[in-house]
Amino acid sequence: MKAFASSVFVCLVLGALPLMALASGQLTQPSEVRPTRHSPSSPDGMVVSATRHASEVGAKVLQDGGNAADAAVATAFALAVTWPAAGNLGGGGFLLASLDGKSVEVLDHREVAPLAATANMYQNSAGEVVPGLSTVGWKAVGVPGSVKGLADLHKRFGKLPWARLVEPAVRLARDGFIVDSGLHRSIAASAEKLSQFSSSRKIFLSFGNQRKGPPPVGSVFRQPDLAKTLQSIAQEGDKGFYRGWVAAAMEKSMADSGGLITRADLKQYRSVWRKPLAATFAGHTIHTMPPPSSGGGSLIALLKVAEELGLDQAKSHFRWSGAEIHTLVQIMKHVFRDRSEFYADPQFHPVPLDSMLSSSSFQDIAKSVRKAGSQSLAAKNVETVTSKKHAKRGASQSGRASEQTTHFSVADGRGGWVSLTTTLNSSFGSGVVLPGTGVLLNNEMDDFTSKPGHPNLYGLIQGEANAIQPKKRPLSSMTPTLISRKLPNGKSEIVAAVGSPGGPTIINQVFLMTLDLLVKKWSPAAVVAAPRFHHQWLPDRVFMEPAAFSQDVVEELLKRGHDVQIRGGTLGAAHIIALRNGLYEGGADPRLPGAVAIPQK
Ligand code: GLY
Repeated sequence: MKAFASSVFVCLVLGALPLMALASGQLTQPSEVRPTRHSPSSPDGMVVSATRHASEVGAKVLQDGGNAADAAVATAFALAVTWPAAGNLGGGGFLLASLDGKSVEVLDHREVAPLAATANMYQNSAGEVVPGLSTVGWKAVGVPGSVKGLADLHKRFGKLPWARLVEPAVRLARDGFIVDSGLHRSIAASAEKLSQFSSSRKIFLSFGNQRKGPPPVGSVFRQPDLAKTLQSIAQEGDKGFYRGWVAAAMEKSMADSGGLITRADLKQYRSVWRKPLAATFAGHTIHTMPPPSSGGGSLIALLKVAEELGLDQAKSHFRWSGAEIHTLVQIMKHVFRDRSEFYADPQFHPVPLDSMLSSSSFQDIAKSVRKAGSQSLAAKNVETVTSKKHAKRGASQSGRASEQTTHFSVADGRGGWVSLTTTLNSSFGSGVVLPGTGVLLNNEMDDFTSKPGHPNLYGLIQGEANAIQPKKRPLSSMTPTLISRKLPNGKSEIVAAVGSPGGPTIINQVFLMTLDLLVKKWSPAAVVAAPRFHHQWLPDRVFMEPAAFSQDVVEELLKRGHDVQIRGGTLGAAHIIALRNGLYEGGADPRLPGAVAIPQK
């Protein structure tokens, strides 16, 4: 099997690009766009994920005759070992799977609030939100769903034996693997949080039992406790996690440390098969994540309003202009306003998808965007646009690379696809490793509304619909997506898997990638490398990646009244696959040391 690291394959091949010609003052553009960045390709499928090890584990499963579901299970377990910032056993996720290339199924294995959770559990007696309580430590943890989800995916679609799929992760945890700069940096960036818990310090910050700090680049990183837990899962399936000694350890440590999860919580956790949301766009069908994610519905709204405004027609193959970004931002504001108000776990709160995803709603938003013309729409219910000090070039910087949450894509070369996004919420979740198990625990409870109007760690203002209730799933932005097209014979085939990490920015990153893939028709490698921006209604500000957009673009946005902030870190980190001209092409985001791995036939 071959693995291609993103860093190796982001070289520009401008020489191969048909040159745009300037003739008699006219700009002639190529009718077909060849890739401006090389995407590793294969006729036999591939796996694209945030680490070379995990991609290789998945590709080897394909090589050994496994299907996309098998490869996804093995890749996810390998990510729990090799990308501990977000790959996980102690978190949750969403996936879209199509094993026959026709029907698309959704598996929601999102965490749920513990049975003892209450709506105001993160507020003090004065009704104020206690800083850090929903983000760091034992009380921040939701009941994990990942292991159950992977077991259920395997039960329904898997071909190879379960133990065969978990075994590579056991080996990576037990025997270790070489630390690269991505892993080292990610641990260093969360060192303060991890250092608060002795079980976490022991694994991530006590290299060789002598040296303090993250394991150095080039060292071998072993996680023997995690290997033991994975071994239980390999032997006993999801019971190896939700029953037995791991469950007992969870109940005891939670009780000792002020957490809420009990064995009863673990025993009754269920993943849920759901139907995807679907909509047509630019000659394709977009299949995406329904509630309890806000991602899929928001993605469809963004795309359909863009269509109303003619942005589904490629005017050029250039990057988006300042004027176009202005329009895209105006759409984002509307869609995120609705996200805040209406989305939640549908089992607990009805989500008015029919009206939000209706043509009239798309037309209304388009009308409002048109009416505002060249001027920025002020976010509703906000007193005034945020301080102009951020609206200058060289503005204050904030944010980090998107190491929270991770997305990977699998195509098995036989029509099977999986698009899977998984998370501990923020990087390394709550910072707590469950003692004796090596399992990092999530801080997904922060995705609930701790108090209406109070921003969560992503600055999202959330509503009553997303209030905490026992067994409820916190609202998510994760947007795993599959894209299909109709064939001349009337059948359809999946042609792309996309998704990204990045909290609420996920929605806009998947939106922009879908536009770049289907409208600009860029190669997957060019799509994932493209510069990104984000607006989430509140704060009323356009976030842009550093060094990503020209001065002209930023000036254009400022001129139109937008508040612009250049982030200190990147936005998203996508790992995508597209089927183009009969070949699977992979895009591993250069923002992380991810890789495309291809099975050898
Ligand atoms: N934890 C981030 C999300 O689910 O949106």
